[in-house]
Amino acid sequence: MSFTPPHVFEQPAPAFDLSQVETPAFVVDLGLLQKNLEKLARVQEASGASILLALKGFSMFAAFPLVRQFLRGCCASGIHEALLAHEEFGREVHVYAPAFKEAEMREIIPIADHISFNSPAQWRKFRPMLDAARAAGKRAPSPGIRVNPEHSEVEVSLYDPCSPGCRLGTRADALENESLDGLEGLHFHALCEQDSDVLERTLAAVERRFPRLLEKVKWVNMGGGHHITRNDYDVERLVRVVRCFKERWGKEVYLEPGEAVALNTGWLIATVMDIVPTDIPTAILDTSATAHMPDTLEMPYRPHILGSDEPGKLAHTFRLGGLTCLAGDVIGEYSFPAPLEPGQKLVFTDMAHYTMVKTTTFNGVPHPDIVLHDPAAGLRLVRRFGYEDFKRRLS
Ligand SMILES: Cc1ncc(COP(=O)(O)O)c(C=O)c1O
Repeated sequence: MSFTPPHVFEQPAPAFDLSQVETPAFVVDLGLLQKNLEKLARVQEASGASILLALKGFSMFAAFPLVRQFLRGCCASGIHEALLAHEEFGREVHVYAPAFKEAEMREIIPIADHISFNSPAQWRKFRPMLDAARAAGKRAPSPGIRVNPEHSEVEVSLYDPCSPGCRLGTRADALENESLDGLEGLHFHALCEQDSDVLERTLAAVERRFPRLLEKVKWVNMGGGHHITRNDYDVERLVRVVRCFKERWGKEVYLEPGEAVALNTGWLIATVMDIVPTDIPTAILDTSATAHMPDTLEMPYRPHILGSDEPGKLAHTFRLGGLTCLAGDVIGEYSFPAPLEPGQKLVFTDMAHYTMVKTTTFNGVPHPDIVLHDPAAGLRLVRRFGYEDFKRRLS
């Protein structure tokens, strides 16, 4: 069953003329992004934590000149994100991946500030490379280990890093007989779109399970999944939890949200191309669930469209279908006050995070444009994709 998360109704309508946007297009609004960043900066200031942008959630580097004014750096989940952070963001680079290759480590060592290993075996394998860089007077990242707090409050197991048997992070019993020598950081990531009460309970589990590691390390990275920029998020509790933790343990604290940075800052704008007579009329759009918003099928969730409602609530109900040949390339059923017409534009909300980083060119469907809206300067087309972008990925 797909459902619509309530926060997607919080995003305002675009403050620009839709007729100026060729579709399909992701439009990110710098004014809305700045509001999020200001809230995150207040959290940094009040809590003493450093906040990093998780690139896996939002990597639109055309917006980095704004983001880097507020956040301390990026967290990367793989070699290419690490390179992007180094090239385009230019502040701290923190890297974690379930496993690294030697060739990747050679590229990561000179550019990363922190690296979190998923297992003691990965740490043992790469420690000599880090030590050798330091011995040669070169820069090397501060090493940490990702732990699995085994505290699970994420309902959908696809997104639960603490589900039984999950490969992410080392469990306390697997760390018991390991030497912690040389480790400088503890990393955990166990939240997904959650409030600070969940962080508080997860942190209690970390403190209970990993006191030996906590005593030893300099920094603690509390991962992502903090929905800080949602209107009803309990910021005061977050500040209290981080401050009290810092008082108890005296550690540097990092948070690395992705979604919260770009929450409700972007729209996907699409055009109705045809109306197909099915059991209920199906509008074919110049976008695709599977190629341009795969989370609608994977999670699954039902994105919000401005001016629409649940099927049957308003006078005219339509199914919205994508451009690919996948039978299930269906975004959902929606009702509208007037019948949809070919040429009409539809505006999907909250499309800046995760949606933009997960697109594909399946079926040769044209990729949406990437557009920035600056409230002071108007719309700017940042990138238009063509046949060459499609072809280059194929051989
Ligand atoms: C290790 C790690 N850090 C940060 C994040 C960012 O999470 P979110 O975008 O939910 O804040 C994730 C998301 O999967 C993650 O796995």
